[in-house]
Amino acid sequence: MDIFTEAYATEQDAQDTLTHLRSNFLIPSKGDLARKTLRSDEKTDQNDEPSIYLCGNSLGLQPKLTHKYMQQYLDTWASKGVYGHFKEVEDSSLVPWLHVDDDCVPEMAKIVGALPSEVAIMQTLTANLHLMMASFYRPSKERYKIILEGKAFPSDHYAVESHLRHHALDPSHSMLLLTPSSDSHTLTTPQILSFLTLHAPTTALLLLPGIQFYTGQALDIPAITSHAHHLGITVGWDLAHAAGNLDLRLHDWGVDFAVWCSYKYMNAGPGAVGGLFVHERHGEVGEGSSSSGKGDDGEVGYRPRLAGWWGSSKASRFAMTNSFVPIPGAAGFQLSNPSVADTTALRASLDIFKLTSMEALRGRSLKLTGYLLELLDRLAEEQKAEEEEGGERCFSIITPREPEQRGAQISVLLKSGLLDVVMASLEAAGVVVDERRPDVIRVAPAPLYNTYRDVFLFVREFRLACQRAVRGEGGPGESVMVNGGKEAKGWSEVK
Ligand SMILES: Cc1ncc(COP(=O)(O)O)c(C=O)c1O
Repeated sequence: MDIFTEAYATEQDAQDTLTHLRSNFLIPSKGDLARKTLRSDEKTDQNDEPSIYLCGNSLGLQPKLTHKYMQQYLDTWASKGVYGHFKEVEDSSLVPWLHVDDDCVPEMAKIVGALPSEVAIMQTLTANLHLMMASFYRPSKERYKIILEGKAFPSDHYAVESHLRHHALDPSHSMLLLTPSSDSHTLTTPQILSFLTLHAPTTALLLLPGIQFYTGQALDIPAITSHAHHLGITVGWDLAHAAGNLDLRLHDWGVDFAVWCSYKYMNAGPGAVGGLFVHERHGEVGEGSSSSGKGDDGEVGYRPRLAGWWGSSKASRFAMTNSFVPIPGAAGFQLSNPSVADTTALRASLDIFKLTSMEALRGRSLKLTGYLLELLDRLAEEQKAEEEEGGERCFSIITPREPEQRGAQISVLLKSGLLDVVMASLEAAGVVVDERRPDVIRVAPAPLYNTYRDVFLFVREFRLACQRAVRGEGGPGESVMVNGGKEAKGWSEVK
């Protein structure tokens, strides 16, 4: 069967053993997205057709379980008050609030390839990054620089800059920025490794993303970590776009620390509680720690950190003795009692991850992005052929082609000036992707809920959007006719 047909996409969905996972999610309908209110009771003008939601790289969709679990949390609070902290509620799926974070740890640990003791559910990504840098960035007179990408997510850049200033170091000298060569959007592993070798004598810490937010490039975490360690550099990873996306093995790869959020591929809702990984070799708590034991820093029996009561051993947590004895492992880096609302939403999401494995999801993800790339390539060829007749080639793909160098997100670089019309056209057609100005759209089929058909329909609408943009139709503010006239036919029919 011709792969450039909707029938092919539908057939692939019928055959794929994980397609059923989609039914665990609430997919906004096209009518939902177009309406200015939450919902309409009028059945007449509603478009109930599901939207083509390819934006899990920004905000994952809501699991159906979330509503049920949030209701149970609210009912517990309403009917048990403070007892909700300690007492089991027999007809609730949730544990007493005192244990909500611990309850999420084993499943989260599986997702990032860690031991349960290496993972904590806490705070948010940037807050966790600060906490980790407070513990892991230990500048000496000789080795004090921090390496990060030149195009790091701004929050990471700010965090690094602020730590350098905190240590009275000048960021313009102490922050080393890794940038792609002038003819490329992405870094190569050899380039990263040689940069590390060059700067190792003055470098204390390396901070990189598992997946680069703009290009969608997946970095080689094991090779880079191992090389940095060989050179005596501590390594931290921002896994915002990698958690719940790549098949990670943080423990086996020997990563020092990692941080992530759970609102993208982890589907726990906007701003939901984050996660943190500390390798077990850094989480040890020595004999008679507190302030008297001896540890790797000579002062206390554990790695120095910014401490809070939730990181202190459960025995001492409520003893109010002012004697901080950290829980061994990542849990000992916690500060505060976690938001139960947030953590409950994460619980709902993790219960869906439990139905499969990261290995299986990653396999499906590679097939979905592979299909997306094939369709986009076909479209690019078509646009190239049309160039002779006054048409235009509208885009290129900046995400690396190699399967191991991409996650679920494909970044499409548009020709300058087309972004607004393309985005407006896609939105009018009920297709949700996101943009990174000036010219990139990020398209992310999330393997938990997106389908081959979603991918097909996206490319079909994208093709029309490009045609409109090239013709200068439907600029911002102008209405965009979607599926109007001849173009309403499926791509397979007009190709
Ligand atoms: C790569 C990356 N790092 C850091 C952040 C900041 O996350 P937070 O707002 O949860 O601190 C984001 C947010 O999207 C991100 O994409």
